[in-house]
This record gives sequence, C-alpha cells and structure tokens, in this order.
Amino acid sequence: LHATLAPTPPMGWSSWNSFGAAIDDATVRAMADAMVSSGLRDAGYTYVNIDDGWQGTRGADGALRPNAKFPDMKALTAYVHARGLKIGIYSSQGPKTCAGYTGSYGHVQQDAQTFADWGFDYLKYDLCSGEWFYNDRDTVMRSYYAMGKALQETGRAILFSLCEYGRFDVGEWGRSVGGELWRTTGDITDNYATMAKIGFDHNGKPANAGPHGWNDPDMLEIGNGGMSPDEYRSHMALWAMSAAPLMMGHDLRKSDAATLAILTNPRVIAIDQDPRGVQGQAMRKDGTREVWAKPLADGRVALALFNRGESAIEAPLTPADAGLASVSRVEDAWSGTTAPALVPLYSVPAHGVVLLIVSP
Ligand code: DGJ
Repeated sequence: LHATLAPTPPMGWSSWNSFGAAIDDATVRAMADAMVSSGLRDAGYTYVNIDDGWQGTRGADGALRPNAKFPDMKALTAYVHARGLKIGIYSSQGPKTCAGYTGSYGHVQQDAQTFADWGFDYLKYDLCSGEWFYNDRDTVMRSYYAMGKALQETGRAILFSLCEYGRFDVGEWGRSVGGELWRTTGDITDNYATMAKIGFDHNGKPANAGPHGWNDPDMLEIGNGGMSPDEYRSHMALWAMSAAPLMMGHDLRKSDAATLAILTNPRVIAIDQDPRGVQGQAMRKDGTREVWAKPLADGRVALALFNRGESAIEAPLTPADAGLASVSRVEDAWSGTTAPALVPLYSVPAHGVVLLIVSP
C-alpha cells in the first residue's frame, strides 16, 4: 500500500488526554466550535478526533453501532465538516479496545466502510485486548495491513494512524501498510518527566520520518495543567523539532492565553510543518544541555537549546551547531525578534528552551 495523505505532520485535537472514555457528541461539537473561536483552526489545527469510548454493540448485520452518547454519527461529522474541519475516529484490531469497547476483529472491512459512510477522515487503530495483544511481528503487521487496505478500498481519503507503541520497528513498515503516522512510545502523561523521556529519547528513527509518514511521540498535554509554562514550551519545541503530529489533548474551551500562545505560535508551527519534513535531532549533548537542529526547506535551520537541568543556565550556540559555516540572521521563534548574529551566551530557564531559526 501507499500512504498518500499528511504531506506534513497532521495537526488537530483528540479526546483521550483530557476526557478518556467520557467523551460524547455534545463535547465533540463543543471542541469543533472552540477550535474555530479560539483561532486554533486558523493556526493550522484541522482534525477533531474521537478516541476510545464511542462504540456500542454490533447489529444483526454485524455493523458496529455507536453507544448512546453518540446518537447520530453522520450528523456529527457534518457538523464538524461545516466548520471547515475534519473528523477522526478510533478502533482496535482485537475483539475489544484498550478501554474494553467493541473492537474491529472479524469486521475489518465492514468497519472501514462504516467509518467511510459516516464521513470520517481519520482512523486511529490501536493494539489491545488480551490474547489479541500480539507478540508476533508478522501478525501485528498483517492486522494493520488489513485495515489499511480496507480503508483504501472504501475510496474515501481516510488518514491512517497506527497505535502499537513503536513495537516491531513500526517505522520501517508503517508506510507499507498505508499508515501516515505511527506511535513510537507508550502513553504520554501530563508531567515533565514522562514528556521529556518521550520527547528526548524515544521518537523512533528520524530517517523513517518524512512527507506522508511520521513518527508519532503521542498527543500533546499542553493546557492540561501538569507542567509549567517553560515545560510546555519545551514540549511544543520538542514536538516541532521532531516533525511530530500536533494533536492537542486539552479541553479547548478552557485554553488560557499562555496555552494559546504556545499552541498557535506561527513560527514554531512552521518548524513542525516545514515541507521538507526532516525530523530534527540532537547535534550535541553536554550534561543536561541538548542542542537540536532541524534543516528547513528554504535553507534555514531551526536550532534549539534545551536545558534539562533543575536550574537556569547560560550556554552558547554556534553556527556549527546548525551545520552552517556562518549565520547571517537569527530569528527567535517564540518572540519573532531578529538579530544579525548569534550572541555568545543564551539564558535558558530550568526545563526550558531557546528556539531559533537561523539563516546561512
Ligand atoms: C492506548 C493509546 O495509546 C491511547 O492513546 C488511547 O488511544 C487509549 N489506548 C484508548 O484506550
């Protein structure tokens, strides 16, 4: 199969991080409305995704039906589409999903067609449920291939998100089963330690990422309250430098100004969404400091200085850190201010980041 969607990392929102299985039709509609009114849609966020917890039982014909919290899926997808957004849904390859709802086992083609008929644009496909949490690479690959093929055969453009936690080198074969993104880690939680572990160490192999196929270090926790503003800026910068999907995970009705400033910064989003699609990586690690570089399509380089330590630091950045002989212009990604050269030392708060875009 060929992955054809997501020329840049997908952006949107998913219900799981803030609502878990307690998601319903009214909340999804409210998120679509909030995505528009807050300016998040216009900043580039597109998908409104229902995660686990929407499923009911199968009818006599085997067709999967939503539970009572989702009375009319076609009406819901139409509501979201009418706001200039796309909408996603979730399933799993076993008989049950991770939260114990009905999975797609034995009904792969039928479910793909149901999702297409309802008007969905995105499927996240999980790996769960007892004996069906396979320990065998071939079986896992086949289960994703079966759904990828079924989605493509519906004829509807449905973005395919693989959620098997990076098992069996998924980055090596995710595209060949039709996947546009694949998780590389276990679940994120809303604290700095987990976010940093995932963001710094575990986002797969950069060589596997690029247009139409992205390493996915899981959804964002920005706005959920468990990290400081400096830590959330590091979270956003790490995901942008990693060309990671930007799936927000907070209650969009409760976005405060600091949260929106982080999530809608146009220069940081442009680093993530750069059309060249290079996944940036650490060029230099020095104790608790890490310098990351991400080459951009126009010849500039995004350059990040992360401070993983518990106290503020002052540290240098050089043209060589960006792989350049010299630097003619420096733009601060957060503030937009520009300077003609790098300064000798940059101040970085504890758990914080300096994020620059430098020109050769
Ligand atoms: C595990 C996934 O990693 C989560 O993102 C979420 O989809 C849950 N399963 C849902 O049960």
